[in-house]
Amino acid sequence: MNSLARLLREIPHPSGDALESGVDVIGDIAIVRYDPLRDMRAIGKKIIELLKNVRAVYGQEGGIEGEFRLRRLRHLAGEQGTVTVHRENGCQFRLDVARCYFSPRLSTERLRIAEMARDGEQILNMFAGVGVYSITVAKKREVHVESCELSRTAFEFHLENNSLNKVATRVNAVNDDAANLPSILKEKFDRILMPLPSNSDKFLGAALALAKEGAVIHYYRHVSAENLAEAKGVLDDELAPILPHRSETKVRKVREVGKRYLELAADIKLP
Ligand SMILES: C[S@@+](CC[C@H](N)C(=O)[O-])C[C@H]1O[C@@H](n2cnc3c(N)ncnc32)[C@H](O)[C@@H]1O
Repeated sequence: MNSLARLLREIPHPSGDALESGVDVIGDIAIVRYDPLRDMRAIGKKIIELLKNVRAVYGQEGGIEGEFRLRRLRHLAGEQGTVTVHRENGCQFRLDVARCYFSPRLSTERLRIAEMARDGEQILNMFAGVGVYSITVAKKREVHVESCELSRTAFEFHLENNSLNKVATRVNAVNDDAANLPSILKEKFDRILMPLPSNSDKFLGAALALAKEGAVIHYYRHVSAENLAEAKGVLDDELAPILPHRSETKVRKVREVGKRYLELAADIKLP
């Protein structure tokens, strides 16, 4: 058990559910699942007491929602204000936790992708958010990254984060719909990232139009299934009609995102 989980076990919770599984610390802001049956303000205060680097606690109502994949937040304790700087994998990301998508739970996945990339690659990130995957890979490898993000707010933080991490000459961000990328971009890519698991399937056509021969597509998807084997089958059925000739697809579970819901990462190698 990590120290955060150990500290959070001290917080009383009448239902007996594990509170620690619902807490994200992003920079100096903690986000805990909002449970109307609990004294959420007391929980907020306790988190501030226990976690010395946290200055604000918010409760998240519901899931990650809408086109921009946002959290609905209620202030519980500490300072007001949802802008913070999160540090991971030697990078810094400034963002507004209420107006941009960000999950600290994906830092290992970001590092995994960055380590798979090779110097000299042209990389496309179709759903860039505040630039987390793009900047992590550009810090680690000598690559050129094109990043696309539909939300104006997340896009502006992405530009700021490019400068903050000194990768602005290697990462170019556009504020557009990823569906338009085939008509915007002239070049093709060695590696394409599709971190929009809720509906990345709608954009596979655009990704294929921009992929070089032998390119790798990192395809993220939420799949409803009891276990990984069943989830792999569902994903395979989804990909077969669109990509009948993919030469190799490695599928792994990134995390559980709900009851009977898994987030999968498929590394698809094109022929
Ligand atoms: C699940 S988030 C991932 C963001 C980032 N890659 C990360 O891991 O933090 C998906 C992002 O895609 C953006 N998005 C949604 N639809 C899009 C579209 N059609 N074109 C480009 N970006 C889109 C959302 O605003 C959101 O920032």
